[in-house]
Amino acid sequence: MSGSIIVAIDGSAASGKGTLAKRIAAHFDFAYLDSGSLYRAIGVAVLRKSGDPTNEAQAVSAAKNLDITQFTPEDLRTEAAGVAASQVAAIPAVRAAILQFQRDFAHTPPHGKKGAVLDGRDIGTVVCPHAPAKIFVSASLDVRVARRIKELRAKGELVIEARVRADLEARDVRDSSRAVAPMKPAEDAWQLDTSALDADQVFDLSKNFVAEKIAKAAV
Ligand code: C5P
Repeated sequence: MSGSIIVAIDGSAASGKGTLAKRIAAHFDFAYLDSGSLYRAIGVAVLRKSGDPTNEAQAVSAAKNLDITQFTPEDLRTEAAGVAASQVAAIPAVRAAILQFQRDFAHTPPHGKKGAVLDGRDIGTVVCPHAPAKIFVSASLDVRVARRIKELRAKGELVIEARVRADLEARDVRDSSRAVAPMKPAEDAWQLDTSALDADQVFDLSKNFVAEKIAKAAV
């Protein structure tokens, strides 16, 4: 165990958890790890070799040889990368290959930071089950579709609403029904439905929650 303060933020695709996690990390001056970007990079690495992200041998090889510096944020934030990510993420050996990296980041955050914020699907349940502060972020499918369309349009991507909806639905099903580390709230997670909240409201509520948990953990 380390003295690092770990904040676990899990939730569904386009729920707003990434935006929240970044703001929480900046506010408390903690390190931030977007665990989804690791799965996205593995998925994109397989696609770059014209491979199949559902092929175990290809996905595991990409996970074991992962070099995150080979990907720009733009490479990783496309819908295709998200779909490939959820395909490689359903393979237990892929998850196992990057588990220790995530735990090391949480327990020994870079740059001497006193804490770490990790966001994903299984941070509170599998990666850091002892994190003192766990938040599970959700939002209705309609709200998530609208948010994702806005995000993609802002980047100049051509967006077909039905396609975005179908991708998010397929990802929800794959992420929550897989055998290993399915997306689900940890028993001790605070569940926050952001459907009717804006980003500032989500941040304010969460900041107070995390501050309380940090204060309790320090006693
Ligand atoms: O959070 P993001 O949408 O970037 O994640 C992409 C995909 O990576 C998810 O749909 C999920 O399948 C997978 N993932 C996961 N476990 C995590 C983070 C992401 O399985 N901790």
